[in-house]
Amino acid sequence: MNYKVAVISGDGIGPEIVREAKKVLDAVAEKYGHSFQYKEVLMGGASIDVHGVPLTEEAITACKNADAVLMGSIGGNTSTSPWYQLPPEKRPEAGLLKLRKSLNLFANVRPALLYQELKAACPLKDEVIGNGFDLVIMRELTGGLYFGERKTIEENGIRKACDTLTYDETEIRRVAKRAFDIARKRRKKVTSVDKANVLDSSRLWRKVVEEVAKDYPEVTLEHMLVDNCAMQLVKDPAQFDVVLTENMFGDILSDEASMITGSIGMLASASLNNTKFGLYEPSGGSAPDIAGKNIANPIATILSAAMMLRFSFDLDKEADAIEAAVQKVLTEGYRTGDIMSDGCKQVNTDEMGDCIAARI
Ligand code: IPM
Ligand code: MG
Repeated sequence: MNYKVAVISGDGIGPEIVREAKKVLDAVAEKYGHSFQYKEVLMGGASIDVHGVPLTEEAITACKNADAVLMGSIGGNTSTSPWYQLPPEKRPEAGLLKLRKSLNLFANVRPALLYQELKAACPLKDEVIGNGFDLVIMRELTGGLYFGERKTIEENGIRKACDTLTYDETEIRRVAKRAFDIARKRRKKVTSVDKANVLDSSRLWRKVVEEVAKDYPEVTLEHMLVDNCAMQLVKDPAQFDVVLTENMFGDILSDEASMITGSIGMLASASLNNTKFGLYEPSGGSAPDIAGKNIANPIATILSAAMMLRFSFDLDKEADAIEAAVQKVLTEGYRTGDIMSDGCKQVNTDEMGDCIAARI
């Protein structure tokens, strides 16, 4: 089959890690008789430099016309990059938020699993790690604080800023269903994370999630407050199967979850809407400090490409092949700097891509 993939290389390490994911996809295409037709789309700082805005209407259309979007990362150093002198709605991140909204990508799936080979890179103690962990964060991606009304004003000489956190029940229900659908195929447990002891939006979240749970009697639902969840993730990560939460909590908890897998460079993600379409990106940022040095870890992007094959193209066998190749490379001891440990072979970004592509 021929698949149209919109590719947003983006900023910082984005172009380097996307290049390696394409290398691996091309190895898959060759082995399994597919073809991937890539269309480069500008977003973030790369788009600001050319068009003055982080996302153009043409870029949105190009993504809509593709079967899926593969993305690297966007953004720069917030204290030194000129992109951050622009008004907030013209900065790189605004492009990503707009794209997520325009494509209605409300369900952000962020798996966090500990490869046995990377135990040494995991900052947790052995007794906490136990037999490892394998969890998925389902983060709501198009609502809440990141999309609510916001303003900065001055009142009686006092500067004041306001962001609003709003959810309606339809937004909660659709992402909750996605979480239960995934849990049903896994260890059948959903932990819904909120701040229901304080926030109205969380109290509604809890009610709606409970309503959805009634349709999934085989899945156990538990509720957890977000502050407790932050603690539990480093205390006993194995207790989690699917963690369902709103936008900002998910943003924060998924960074925490990635760190306990050894490196944020290992964490893939899929952002999905109601169709087969999706945007696939590593959970990590653009890491401007190491950009262009060919040392970034491309594995999260490569695993995101695997998620694209699985979720958008129904190519399970091919997705398995990528995941197995990543596993093999780790077992053989190849490591980028971020996951390096004694006795392993340190490789750079493109060598890691070569190693994985060669094992497809
Ligand atoms: C992420 C990122 C984005 C987010 C930023 C770049 C807007 O941190 O995907 O987690 O907050 O969603
Ligand atoms: Mg984030």
